[in-house]
Amino acid sequence: MKARILDGAALAARIREEIKQGVKELHASRGIIPGLATVLIGNNPASVTYVRNKRKACEEVGMRSFGYELPAGASEAEVIALIETLGARADVHGILVQLPLPPHMDADRVLSAIPLHKDVDGFNPINLGMLGVKGKQAPFAPCTPQGCIELLLRNDIPICGRRAVVLGRSAVVGLPLALMLLARDATVTVCHSRTTNLASVTREAEILIAAIGKPRFVTADMVRPGAVVIDVGINRIEDPKHPKGYRLVGDVDFDEVSEVASAITPVPGGVGPMTVAMLLRNTLIAAQRQSERG
Ligand code: GUN
Repeated sequence: MKARILDGAALAARIREEIKQGVKELHASRGIIPGLATVLIGNNPASVTYVRNKRKACEEVGMRSFGYELPAGASEAEVIALIETLGARADVHGILVQLPLPPHMDADRVLSAIPLHKDVDGFNPINLGMLGVKGKQAPFAPCTPQGCIELLLRNDIPICGRRAVVLGRSAVVGLPLALMLLARDATVTVCHSRTTNLASVTREAEILIAAIGKPRFVTADMVRPGAVVIDVGINRIEDPKHPKGYRLVGDVDFDEVSEVASAITPVPGGVGPMTVAMLLRNTLIAAQRQSERG
């Protein structure tokens, strides 16, 4: 079997067009241009690239992007003071603090400073907690898990009643995604580094999500024939033939798993572009809600 490719790049482009339209409408009806403030601390090369891409994507859909860069040695109090200033600004509708933070900062304290109505990344611990409370809608869902769900929904892949296995329990992807799948009535198992007989668990998955940050970790023998496989991993591996000296691969061995799965996301061009599209959508929603509050 050759799996159907779930093309995140094409879907994200369609969603960005929808958002562009929404931005125009908000401007025409209320005179408001959605604004996203990004806060980057230090110069982690991957973080620098992610923030650059997010800012560019904002501008491409007609939003304002406000970039703030602090040195790696900045104090936690300085970062929190900046977030509080941005929280009070009327032209900033969303605030994103790029992770990981330098080790001397407490991520929970920093992320808690983001007002819930501007937490477009969904990382304020209160927002994250609300994902697990039945019947309560969190103001914003984190962008990468939301991107995975959107990829399933817009490809008509049902979630309700299906067995989903999430590989990885990070606060950024695995944990919130497990809660979001549960809220959509999947039967969810979360695997991690201490899981025993991992392959026997992953082979139960009708929907398998890999978010562990290990290049090509998921091999064909770990996948149930016909499963839908979502690869969240973005790993750099050395490749002297590539102009940059490296290339990107996912957490899934694409070549062999695509022979077993019924559908699979590629890397690059799968979940990655969806993350940015969900950030733009959350920012537009934040601006719409704030315009209604007056
Ligand atoms: N670091 C890795 N992924 C993300 C993300 O989606 N948002 C932020 N803010 N930081 C990240």
